[in-house]
Amino acid sequence: MPLDRKSAPNDLRAFWMPFTANRQFKSAPRMLVAAKDMYYTTSDGRQILDGTAGLWCCNAGHCRPKITEAVQAQVAEMDYAPAFQMGHPLAFELANRIVDIAPDGIEHVFYCNSGSEAVDTALKIALAYHRARGDSARTRLIGRERGYHGVGFGGISVGGIVNNRRFFGSLLTGVDHLPHTHLPENAFTKGQPEHGANLADELERIIALHGAETIAAVIVEPMAGSTGVLLPPKGYLKRLREITHKHGILLIFDEVITGFGRLGSPFAAQHFDVMPDMITCAKGLTNGVIPMGAVLTTAQIHDAFMQGPEHVIELFHGYTYSGNPVACAAGLATLDTYAEDGLLTRAADLETYWQEALHGLKGLPHVVDIRNMGLIGAVELAPMECQPGKRAFDVFVKAFEAGIMIRITGDIIAMSPPLIISKEQIDELVGTLAEVLRQAG
Ligand SMILES: Cc1ncc(COP(=O)(O)O)c(C=O)c1O
Repeated sequence: MPLDRKSAPNDLRAFWMPFTANRQFKSAPRMLVAAKDMYYTTSDGRQILDGTAGLWCCNAGHCRPKITEAVQAQVAEMDYAPAFQMGHPLAFELANRIVDIAPDGIEHVFYCNSGSEAVDTALKIALAYHRARGDSARTRLIGRERGYHGVGFGGISVGGIVNNRRFFGSLLTGVDHLPHTHLPENAFTKGQPEHGANLADELERIIALHGAETIAAVIVEPMAGSTGVLLPPKGYLKRLREITHKHGILLIFDEVITGFGRLGSPFAAQHFDVMPDMITCAKGLTNGVIPMGAVLTTAQIHDAFMQGPEHVIELFHGYTYSGNPVACAAGLATLDTYAEDGLLTRAADLETYWQEALHGLKGLPHVVDIRNMGLIGAVELAPMECQPGKRAFDVFVKAFEAGIMIRITGDIIAMSPPLIISKEQIDELVGTLAEVLRQAG
């Protein structure tokens, strides 16, 4: 009997779900069976407005024909090709196309399969870069409190979300963290907050403590997404860049969420006009259709490796699926779709409408902060006494029942809809959330 994929399976035991309250889910599953443009369809036939672009990745909306067709054609023509000592045209074409939309100065692309791999790749490149230049004492990595850089050991070491770290041993050594940028005086700021640029100066303190000559790289999300949307205060990123430059430390922007139009520019580096040495990306690179990540680097970093005998591998790193042809086909069709629909800058056009809609939630029960930028927004709720996370979790479940998909981190609701969202759909998303918040109050 062929599997009926439209109905809910009756045995949910085997699949150990990631970042999920498994027992709660399995007692009341939220099962998605189809998706088109802005909506998911559930196994019980309901339409759910996607307020999160899946997991911040389906920037062009769902099942876009060009991407679907490109994947179908590629998988039939050449399903797989090794990328070690071999090449195929799409991998080169896609790298060039990424460089075309990346900030000036970015010239090379190293492929991997996810944001976590992109982060670990970038950290390794940073360490190996200094070593290649004879500066091998630079082994320390600096992340930031509340930062999310995926779930590899490198990423959780530089990351600063406590629950993602505390269960997994002692992690990488030689890591330190900047303070996060979330200040109470910035509550309910529309767009970029005024206060907190000076938090970047903490890097000088960390440098004084360890010695600049021991520090390889600083990694931050230009806008911290997964921790609950923490925006960089005005001037903060520029200051980080000045300090890292001054001390010969690489600056890595983790743009796994902000890459590909989320803030109204192709990359956040362009949005904030701050040029890092490396950018990590994934998610929107293929519209979430096929797993793919990448590290984007300057020529200075790449060229430091291009020395020694020509038959010798310059960087001992890579993945079986680096530059997978089907992923590359998805990536190229995704970039075409973004270009055709003007999606890499559309968030800038919608930002004010989105902002005003979101800030209209101020005053609803338990709302203690609202933050926004581009097509990202967060609504922070006061935690229930002795039950952190419970209030937002209940809102998440009720919101799904009411027909919208949102995300939660602790007691923070985060939204990042596909960049194709209409004003009417913004009203539907925020209006439904308002109703749920009112009822939950
Ligand atoms: C900034 C950032 N880095 C890394 C990751 C990890 O990406 P992945 O889940 O594809 O490994 C994420 C995922 O949300 C992210 O937001």
